[in-house]
Amino acid sequence: MVGMPYPVGTVTNSEGHLEIAGCDVVDLAARFGTPSYLFSVPEMRNRARAYLDAFGAHTDEFEVLYASKALPVTAAYRLFASEGLSVDVASGGELTMALAAGYEPSRIYMHGNNKTDAEIRLAEESGVGHLILDSFDEIERCERVLTGKQDVMIRVTPGIKPSTHTYIQTGQLDSKFGFGLEDGSAERAIRRTLASSKLRLVGLHFHIGSQIFETEPFRLAVKALASIKGDWCRMLDLGGGLGISYENADEPPKIESYVDFKIEAVREFFGHEVRILIEPGRSLVGNAGVTIYTVGTIKEIPGIRTYVSVDGGMSDNLRPMLYDARYEAAIANRAGRAAETVATIAGSHCESGDILVRDVALADPHVGDILITPATGAYGHAMANNYNGMPRPPVIFLEDGEAQVVVRRETWDDLLARDA
Ligand SMILES: Cc1ncc(COP(=O)(O)O)c(C=O)c1O
Repeated sequence: MVGMPYPVGTVTNSEGHLEIAGCDVVDLAARFGTPSYLFSVPEMRNRARAYLDAFGAHTDEFEVLYASKALPVTAAYRLFASEGLSVDVASGGELTMALAAGYEPSRIYMHGNNKTDAEIRLAEESGVGHLILDSFDEIERCERVLTGKQDVMIRVTPGIKPSTHTYIQTGQLDSKFGFGLEDGSAERAIRRTLASSKLRLVGLHFHIGSQIFETEPFRLAVKALASIKGDWCRMLDLGGGLGISYENADEPPKIESYVDFKIEAVREFFGHEVRILIEPGRSLVGNAGVTIYTVGTIKEIPGIRTYVSVDGGMSDNLRPMLYDARYEAAIANRAGRAAETVATIAGSHCESGDILVRDVALADPHVGDILITPATGAYGHAMANNYNGMPRPPVIFLEDGEAQVVVRRETWDDLLARDA
């Protein structure tokens, strides 16, 4: 039952409970309540090390950036900083968390398709290493706001569409992100930036999308960007995008072969001169995280469907509603038993669309059971919201049988805290 989407080393213990990083999930539910996000720290570390080792086998001229939008939690920034990763931030808020975690500012790369004056100012004042420029308006804004000279890269939309949900395709010309290659914007942006007294152009960036299993689109994107490279191009940032397994049948490429493939593509089209950057988010934290819930009601509609409702939903995991994302689910306190009841897992929100998992086989679900959905580590907590006044769940890191709350549960009082 414990398959690919779970953190490596997840087991069923002698009590028939799921155990992650040496912690009994059912005990954690009793101790910390539900819903809660649980993260295997070893899984995050191992994935970070897999990226570093895969690059390190080929070159010293690389940087792995933690794309922190996937899990913007100060403790996660701290963890990846300690593993030697640089970081990609996409807002002043993410920058603030990276700085609070002690990130060396020169290792911070700042993205965003509409950076504000305040964000640009904060980036400069805190010594952020690189800004990734996204539009002509932003170039002008940077020139107006910056006081000194800033290293920058240009985000290019190379005109490549990987097979993934349209909402997470970002490399096509028709995108809000970056400068198009096909319409000549990227080349104009390069000329414009090279002529600027405030901006020092050092490289190119692309990010073609997320949850991608194919490798060829990355090669095509590298090839496309090579058509506009120049002497100034010392860095090439290949973005994130490596997919993870959400369902048992998903077989994403291994980090090692994905990195090998990317390096090969860069060598083919850019030679050995550029420093290679990548920005994994989902593939660092996605499979490290699970969400636990308590089953509150079970509604059987004979001949139609059984709804199992849990104490969370679209406020803690928006992805099924945004992208039709599919998840596995299990009853954590009956993990050793055969899953023979097909049910639909519903959240507690006032929306018929608040369905976390459709038609999944569970082991004889009962009210009071602890239900677990694996692979919620990326863009789960990150997109959590307070719809229906639902307090956001805590984030709990697990390692060697120890559990540490790194973001506490929101309270009903917290919901009043911003009232003016
Ligand atoms: C610019 C950029 N880099 C990196 C990422 C991380 O992508 P992923 O989580 O698919 O690795 C994203 C995600 O949207 C992104 O927009």
